[in-house]
Amino acid sequence: MTDKIKRIAMMTGGGDCPGLNAVIRAATRTAILKYGYEVYGYKYGYKGMYTNDLIPLTLESVSGILHKGGTILYSSNKDNLFAYPQEVNGKVITQDVSHVALSNMKASGIDALIVIGGDGTLTSARDFSRKGVKIVGVPKTIDNDLAATETTFGFYSALDCATEALDRLHTTAESHHRVMILEVMGRNAGWIALESGIAGSADVILIPEIPYDIDKIARKIKERAANGKFFSVIVVSEGAVPIGGCVTIDRIVEDSPDPIRLGGIGKKLSYDLEKIIGDHEIRYTVLGHLQRGGNASTFDRILSTRYGVAAVDLIAEEKFGNMVCLKGNTMSYESLENVIGVIKSVSEDNELVRVGKSIGISFGD
Ligand code: F6P
Repeated sequence: MTDKIKRIAMMTGGGDCPGLNAVIRAATRTAILKYGYEVYGYKYGYKGMYTNDLIPLTLESVSGILHKGGTILYSSNKDNLFAYPQEVNGKVITQDVSHVALSNMKASGIDALIVIGGDGTLTSARDFSRKGVKIVGVPKTIDNDLAATETTFGFYSALDCATEALDRLHTTAESHHRVMILEVMGRNAGWIALESGIAGSADVILIPEIPYDIDKIARKIKERAANGKFFSVIVVSEGAVPIGGCVTIDRIVEDSPDPIRLGGIGKKLSYDLEKIIGDHEIRYTVLGHLQRGGNASTFDRILSTRYGVAAVDLIAEEKFGNMVCLKGNTMSYESLENVIGVIKSVSEDNELVRVGKSIGISFGD
């Protein structure tokens, strides 16, 4: 055990997901019980480091939060302290204000920091690490698109939500002989659609990595009807694209480092399909932020706890500048320098895609 670290802090950044509180709890308990550290939390992600919004984390304050969605430290997916909006002479410009966070950390006696977030949040963690901050990252996102780790926490909770939605859509699809479309999140990676589609028995799975041909989807629905199945269930990833087409954008969030918010493909698909298969009624559902809310799944409670413990162990071992990750079923770590921007997409020869095709699921290709 190092004798240099006495006080650590943690923060949660980016879009929330179930499991954040489980990481906070596990890291706090490990830091106090195993290493005798003092523990603090910055509120509102990087913004809290800038405004020095620091709260003590104790065994009492992290009690009872293991299963709860959200984050007791709050989060923001807008604040990048290396390009922070500032009003100068009546104009808003972005400036590097990371030095303010550094002096706040120093003034509060914070020796090391745990940053819990996805690619955007961890990019800033890497940049703080380059500036000498003793930092350890924890990979979070429902999208499961970070290549360095087998699984990000939050993914399986979102997957359970999407699978349950597909189960629910199935019964109503069958009663009304309808085509039901479920639009799920995932940004430019199709993991949520792919895995919920298999678990939720979808007839068609559309993912960003495999552009779809609308005629092939229509053919699948007609084939099913010809075989006496007068309903079909489609799961479409928000980033799915028709062959030769582009993504459907819901909105641009101007003050976000990653301003594009995908959304609307479910509706577009339903209208496009209706033109071809007018004899089937179609309805679409956008699952949206339900995937990010609610209690953490059993898997995520365990994974998040493992991540929280591993992050503090890395600090104690002075292995800074790393992100904890899951390799196989073993806790490991990887340099933040190597993990940023390396996105994990679904390859066309992914085993689950092959499994889906083997059992007759259409991928629209
Ligand atoms: O990255 C997580 C995620 O939920 C994506 O799946 C989705 O595209 C995006 O965040 C939504 O962001 P917001 O909460 O800003 O609408």
